[in-house]
Amino acid sequence: MEEYLESMAAFRSEFQPRNDDILLTSFPKTGTTWLMALCHNILNLEEDEEDILTEKNPHDVVPTLDGAYLADQVQNILLHSGRRTTSRLLHTHLPYSCLPEAVRNSGCKLVHLARNPKDTLVSMWHFYNKILRREPMSSPFPIERAVESFCSGVIPWGPFYEHVVGYWEESRKRPDEVLFLKYEELCRDPKDQVRKLASFLGKSFCPTKNGDNDDDDDVVEKVLQRSSLGRLKELEVNKNGVLEIVPIPNAHFFRKGTVGDWKSCLTPQMAKRIDHLTQFKLRGTGLSL
Ligand code: A3P
Repeated sequence: MEEYLESMAAFRSEFQPRNDDILLTSFPKTGTTWLMALCHNILNLEEDEEDILTEKNPHDVVPTLDGAYLADQVQNILLHSGRRTTSRLLHTHLPYSCLPEAVRNSGCKLVHLARNPKDTLVSMWHFYNKILRREPMSSPFPIERAVESFCSGVIPWGPFYEHVVGYWEESRKRPDEVLFLKYEELCRDPKDQVRKLASFLGKSFCPTKNGDNDDDDDVVEKVLQRSSLGRLKELEVNKNGVLEIVPIPNAHFFRKGTVGDWKSCLTPQMAKRIDHLTQFKLRGTGLSL
């Protein structure tokens, strides 16, 4: 973790943004992997016949800058991310308030993906149980303690609420530069959300000349299909590969992707506690999660 903090510090002091960079931002376990795949496919679908996501996990295609400075080939990583399109597609889990000043002033586009707090917590609990349990059969971290940590804000990249509100407020101030998306809306209305995302990225899928939407629809379908959980999860690279920068098995990034899965883990009391906190933390912001 200490190394990771060094990397974050290096990102803050050394990273030089370009005004055409696209920076994806998310709290961990809110659907980052999906957002990476969607944006990569939106920007590269026409040119990317070889479909690089069949060979690499989305996290190895869209570098997370927080950890990228751990790797001594950071310059390569940054160079590589601009190889396919003119814009570099990058990612961070840092809250808006911690982004390098240069990024906040650069005018580069930010896309934030938010998710329901209870589903985020449960997804995070499963993820850390997988990566931190040393013995496969050892018992999971008690869910009561996970809830306590989440509510007190003492979690990786936490506190959760301040993180999401920071990006939400910025998206309201600068809607042309900061797009705010929700995991649940992507699940509910994937085609409309992908069109909105593509248009924000400057890649509108246009209706055909004769006015029908068929071609447009095909492209949107293809983006969604190539980015889908079902497809990515079954790829060999994601079944048996590990990430390039930190040795985390790719498979850990794909689980159920179900809205409301918190019900399988949290008691009604836990859910109530989080709901109260959510209400309190989001009061007056105009944001609902
Ligand atoms: P669950 O644990 O609820 O299944 P992140 O990518 O930020 O680490 O978030 C991981 C969560 O996103 C997991 O949620 C995972 O299953 C889900 N996910 C990963 N890839 C996805 C995809 N292509 N489409 C939808 N959800 C996806």
